[in-house]
Amino acid sequence: MSIAEITSCTSGLPLHACGAPAAGYQADEAAILALEFLAQRYSVGPKYLTEPAPDLTALRKAVAVALRAPDHRSLRPFRFCVVPTSARPRLAELFAGNAARRGHGADEVERARERAWNGPALIALIGRVGPNSQDVPESEQWVCLGAGLMNFLNALHLQGFGAKVLSGESVRDEFVRAAFCTAGETLVAWIVAGTPSKRSAPKAEDDVDGAIAVWQFEPALRA
Ligand SMILES: Cc1cc2nc3c(=O)[nH]c(=O)nc-3n(C[C@H](O)[C@H](O)[C@H](O)COP(=O)(O)O)c2cc1C
Repeated sequence: MSIAEITSCTSGLPLHACGAPAAGYQADEAAILALEFLAQRYSVGPKYLTEPAPDLTALRKAVAVALRAPDHRSLRPFRFCVVPTSARPRLAELFAGNAARRGHGADEVERARERAWNGPALIALIGRVGPNSQDVPESEQWVCLGAGLMNFLNALHLQGFGAKVLSGESVRDEFVRAAFCTAGETLVAWIVAGTPSKRSAPKAEDDVDGAIAVWQFEPALRA
């Protein structure tokens, strides 16, 4: 079973209920395979991202999954903005301008300019978090944004693409921000994406036990 087959269930039903797209298809098997595949998602830096880049169809699919993030009152406190290749020279100028304004030397300004060419695909993640919008605290809106980002990355991963989230000085630059954001929006980060040129490996073992516990509500039971 290929990942394409797993992700081809578009009926809106749970995986175990969405029929049999291929002979011998077992929905539960597909879900377990997808789960294992998700547990193997690692960031892939720009150095290891090659063509082909995710095209607009793949990116739209990832955005559709991002929109499945839990979203109190459906505020959708985030959006994605794809930087087309034709706009990279303009972005390079903005990055270089930011580095120069910060007083960096010519070498660092040049490095900043080159960062605009990072990744075969480059996407800006923009936050639209308002102070207690419709009684939804900002913290909940940021959680929604983070969940949307994670879903976006996972959806790219399931389609065979690697990606990495990067921020740096540029997201805080007023001119870069003005080029991407409208009033009240925040330029959160860049997402670089493409086809991984090497298999990613974990930097360290994940500590599942340290991240989950069963609540011991009786003090006597804690001892
Ligand atoms: C909003 C945001 C901004 C980030 N910015 C940077 C960055 O500028 N540089 C960097 O090396 N990692 C940055 N990271 C972390 C990487 O994207 C990545 O998560 C980290 O290297 C761990 O790799 P992993 O995703 O494989 O666990 C950022 C993560 C987030 C969520």
